[in-house]
Amino acid sequence: MKDTLRFITCGSVDDGKSTLIGRLLWESKQVFEDHLSALQKDSTRYGTQGEAIDLALLVDGLQAEREQSITIDVAYRFFATPQRRFVVADTPGHEQYTRNMATGASTSELAVLVVNASKGLQTQTHRHARIVAMLGIRHLVMAVNKMDLVGWDEAMFGQIVREFQPLVSELRFESFQPIPVSALNGDNITDRSAATPWYSGPTLLECLEKVDVTPRADSLKFRMAVQWVNRPTQDFRGYCGRIASGEVKVGDRVRVVPGGMETKIRSIVGWQTELPAAAAGDSITVCLENEVDITRGSVIAAASDPAELSDQFESRVLCLSDHPLVAGRSYLMNLHTCQAVATITSIKYQIDAKTGNHLAARSLGMNDIGVVNISTDRPVPFEPYDRCRRLGSFILVDRLTNNTVGAGMIDFSLRRAANIHWQAVDVNKSARSRQKLQKPVCLWFTGLSASGKSTVANLLEKRLFTAGKHTYMLDGDNVRHGLNRDLGFSEADRVENIRRVTEVARLLVDAGLVVLVSFISPYRAERELARSRFELGEFVEVFVDTPLEVCERRDPKGLYAKARRGELINFTGIDSDYEPPVSPEIRLDTVNESVDKCVDRILYALEHGLATNISEK
Ligand code: ADX
Repeated sequence: MKDTLRFITCGSVDDGKSTLIGRLLWESKQVFEDHLSALQKDSTRYGTQGEAIDLALLVDGLQAEREQSITIDVAYRFFATPQRRFVVADTPGHEQYTRNMATGASTSELAVLVVNASKGLQTQTHRHARIVAMLGIRHLVMAVNKMDLVGWDEAMFGQIVREFQPLVSELRFESFQPIPVSALNGDNITDRSAATPWYSGPTLLECLEKVDVTPRADSLKFRMAVQWVNRPTQDFRGYCGRIASGEVKVGDRVRVVPGGMETKIRSIVGWQTELPAAAAGDSITVCLENEVDITRGSVIAAASDPAELSDQFESRVLCLSDHPLVAGRSYLMNLHTCQAVATITSIKYQIDAKTGNHLAARSLGMNDIGVVNISTDRPVPFEPYDRCRRLGSFILVDRLTNNTVGAGMIDFSLRRAANIHWQAVDVNKSARSRQKLQKPVCLWFTGLSASGKSTVANLLEKRLFTAGKHTYMLDGDNVRHGLNRDLGFSEADRVENIRRVTEVARLLVDAGLVVLVSFISPYRAERELARSRFELGEFVEVFVDTPLEVCERRDPKGLYAKARRGELINFTGIDSDYEPPVSPEIRLDTVNESVDKCVDRILYALEHGLATNISEK
């Protein structure tokens, strides 16, 4: 059977990517007749090549069609020669390019990096090479395109290749083939060009046909992440998944991570038949000798060499969102078939795309690559990316919008959490709560500066105190004088500000207190994170919903005026966002209601339970 090569093309916008794919499809006769005559018509109408056929239209035309359906952002094109079948991941070249490229690259074995000979290497060229390397592509072809525009100058070609060579070594590609081409005229694409007598290497198609991309025999034994537990009847229980590495036979001893239980393979079911054995890449269902606790996201591995388990990692991360990735914020992490809540605990450094130098960074913007520490809410089974691509790569998803905001690779486990246990104590929250005759709770006040958070919280605390309650107030201005004195008002700093206060509030609630937290806390994501750290009913979000104009008129500290004069940057409501709560337990209107009335409302809500949202407009 012919094997299949999966590849991706990348490069800057006008380097000729589309023309190159179009040319490959064209010359391998994958362009159907009706499509062809349409193309001929379109070329004379819209093309950039006069009467000749503009091959870029072949790809771009389909692309426009595709862009109407927003769910598919990578198209896979198929073509074949007598030697091999090919799947090329075609990624549209708009501003989401890197994101689509990352998607395409994650299933590819080789990348064709297109460089425009007349422009030479661009920062983008380096960036794309780093991204494909980061996503595990080990084979690189550099198509130095538009060689006709530089008179097929051998020295120029040599210069580009020489300049690029250090990056090839740094990124440790297993094979690297530079080829001088003209996609437009078809030189060195399928047929050897008469213009390059000085070039003795393969044409692009020859190279794609011959390159050997079989993964290096790795020492990694059997591993399979469970996608689905199949239980059609009482007496059948099978675990379905795709083998990530190694081989498995009936009778093999395996260990399940997490859990660590050891058992044996009773049977292997493939596509409709039982199999004696299976290997990496196969999709199978396995049945085990013993009942073991296995769910989606568990990894079944060779007993002698099980998968690792950790909740702290050092990883490389590529930011795919126009909203920066910051330390302290939590995301959903999809790692093979497993999902966990992950927090970037620190950004160690950013990698300069062009030079590879380490840069100091507090956040990672769109297309930035960085090395970060990540912690997950529970231990997850994994392999370092260098050992196993499938079990070592993950994506980060925004918990509110569900957008993919980053792609990452695990470098190694930091193994910290494995050694730190939660200390069980006898005098616990419920004992303290009984002693104080109160239900501990966290009242979280959010709203703009000068909205009245502290004023309301202050009076509320006085009333609670008088009633004999045990309370404590955490106020932004005060906490920023001590615990958080090292933090400013950048997005990253505010995220960390709220994370620390959340943890302090949690400890105080554990101590049995009624805790009043009064922070602007402008971002929904962190307020949701705060909520998730408390038990159900223990977190009450109070939105002090005072309009910006009113706050600005009040301006007790003169900060709005300063911000308007440009003397204070990142001021919430002026040049820094405030994301209002969607469904707070309590909403206060300080414009139409007195402070007393607001406090009454909160006390009423506390006394009458908060099972449902009490939000009044
Ligand atoms: S938060 O955004 O990180 O939650 P926090 O509640 O701790 O903010 O601090 C807000 C207080 O800091 C404001 O009430 C104001 O007195 C002061 N402040 C100083 N600079 C700023 C700024 N750029 N944006 C908002 N508040 C600021």
